[in-house]
Amino acid sequence: MPIELEVKFVPLSASLQATAVVLAGKDGALTASGQSLDNKANQAIRHAMDAAEFKGRAKSSIELFAPPRLDVKRLIVMGTGGEMDQQDRLNIGGAIYATASARKTAAASIIADAPDVAANAVAATAADLAAGALMRSYSFKTYQTKQTDEEGNGAAKNGLATLYVHTANPDAATEAFKERAALARGVALARDLVNEPANTLGPVEFAERLKALKIPGLDVEILDEHQLADLKMGALLGVAQGSERPARVVVMQWNGAKSKRGRPVCFVGKGVTFDTGGISLKPGAGMEDMKGDMGGAACVAGLMLTLAGRKANVNAVGLVGLVENMPSGKAQRPGDIVTTMSGQTVEVINTDAEGRLVLADVLWYAQERFKPRFIVDLATLTGAIMVALGKEYAGLFSNNDKLAEELFKAGEATGEKVWRMPLAKAYDKLIDSRFADMKNIGGRHGGAITAAQFLQRYIKDTPWAHLDIAGTAMDSGKTDINQSWGSGWGVRLLDRLVADHYERPEK
Ligand code: BES
Ligand code: MN
Ligand code: ZN
Repeated sequence: MPIELEVKFVPLSASLQATAVVLAGKDGALTASGQSLDNKANQAIRHAMDAAEFKGRAKSSIELFAPPRLDVKRLIVMGTGGEMDQQDRLNIGGAIYATASARKTAAASIIADAPDVAANAVAATAADLAAGALMRSYSFKTYQTKQTDEEGNGAAKNGLATLYVHTANPDAATEAFKERAALARGVALARDLVNEPANTLGPVEFAERLKALKIPGLDVEILDEHQLADLKMGALLGVAQGSERPARVVVMQWNGAKSKRGRPVCFVGKGVTFDTGGISLKPGAGMEDMKGDMGGAACVAGLMLTLAGRKANVNAVGLVGLVENMPSGKAQRPGDIVTTMSGQTVEVINTDAEGRLVLADVLWYAQERFKPRFIVDLATLTGAIMVALGKEYAGLFSNNDKLAEELFKAGEATGEKVWRMPLAKAYDKLIDSRFADMKNIGGRHGGAITAAQFLQRYIKDTPWAHLDIAGTAMDSGKTDINQSWGSGWGVRLLDRLVADHYERPEK
C-alpha cells in the first residue's frame, strides 16, 4: 500500500513512545489544557525553547533529548504559528511526519493537545494532524527493487510506521478521522494512477483498476470500444484508433443522498493514458511525462473513492474517457473529419489536441444520460495554461458564476487553487472550420481558452466548469502533504466543493 502509516488515537494519559512531538503556539504556549505535561517537564521544555530562541513559528522545530519527567528519549517541539485553520493543521501534520520519519523511528507520539484550539475543535485538530501525516506518508516505490541510501532515494522503507495521537477524546478523534482517512485514500489512488507508467496502465488496465476497487455502494461500469461505437463517440474513438490498445469509458456512480433518484453532481476526467501527440508527434524531450496525461481521470477516480469511502450524502457520478494517443498506420491524420456523439463534426487539424476530442464525447454522454446538477471536468489539457498560470493555480473556465465562485472558495480553503479565465464569443470564433462545424485548435494565442471554448460547444445549458490541470496534476512541486510526482491534485478541492455545497437536496 502506498500509504505507509498506521494511526491510533489514544488518551493524553497514555504512555508516550520513545519519540514524541509536542506542539508550541505563537507565544510559546505548550498545550491547551496544561494537563498533559507535568510542570517540571514544562519548565525544561521552556528553557530549551528560550535557549534556542524558538518562537513557535509554524513548522519550525527543536529537539530535546531525555527531557526530565517525561518517559521519552527524544521530544520534538513543533511550532504551530498560533491559531491553525484546517489547511495549517494538515500541513503541520505533514511536517511532523517528515520530522519523525527522518529520525528513523518506527513509532512516534503526537501530543495533539495543541494550544490556541477551541474546545469544539479538539477532535478535528487531532484528526487533521493525523490526516496530514497520512498524506505525507505516501510514496510510490513499486518499481524500485533495491533498498537504498541515507538520503532516502530508492525503495528504503520510511522510518515511521505507527503514529500515536494523544488527545482528550480519542473516540471523537477516531470518528472525525474516518472521513479524512477516506480522503487520504482517494488522494493516494489519484497519485498512484498518475505515477504508474503507461506500459502497465493503458485504458483497459485503468478501467480494471477501478472495477477492482469494490467499495460498497460504488457502482463501476465499463463501456468497451463496441459500446462506444454504438454510442457514436466518433471523436474519442478517432483518438484511440492509432493505438493497439482499445478505448474505454468508465462510469462510476455513488448514490448516497437520501433520495437515490435525485439528480447527481457530475465529474468528468481526461484519461489519455499516454499522449505521444499522435501523427502530430511531440518532441522527445520530456515526453515521458505524458504518462500523466490521465491526471483528470485519476482525480475523478480518487474523488469517487473518497465520496463512497466517507459515505457522502450526495448522488455523484464520475466518468473517465480512456484512450492512448499513438502514431501508427491506423492513426488519424491532420485534416481528418470526425463526427462526435453530439452530431457536430470536427476537423482534426492537430492530432496532439486530443484531450478535447475525448472530452467532447464524454461530456455529451454525461449530460444525455444523467441530466446532472452540474459538471466539473478536469483535464491536463494545454501547455498554454502553464504559460498563463504556472504551476500554482489550475485554470478555471465556467459558464456559471455561482459554481465558479464555489470552486474558487474551495480552492482557497484547500490550497488547491483555481484562477478563473475568460470564455467569450470572440474566442469561440477562432475554432470555426472551413470544412467542418469546428476545428480542434485555435490560432497561436490563448491556447487554453480556445481549448475551453471547444469543450463549451459540447455543453448544453448545464452549469459547467472546466479545470485545466496540466500544471498541477503532476510535477507540481513538493508540499508538506505531498512529496509525489503525481500530486493527486483536485481530490481535496472537489471533495470540499461537494461537502460545502452539495450534500443537501436540491433547492
Ligand atoms: N496533454 C497535452 C497538454 C500537456 C502538456 C499536459 C504538458 C501536461 C504537460 C495536450 O494533449 C496537448 O498536447 N496540448 C497541446 C495543444 C496544441 C496542439 C493546440 C499543447 O498544449 O501544446
Ligand atoms: Mn496532446
Ligand atoms: Zn494530451
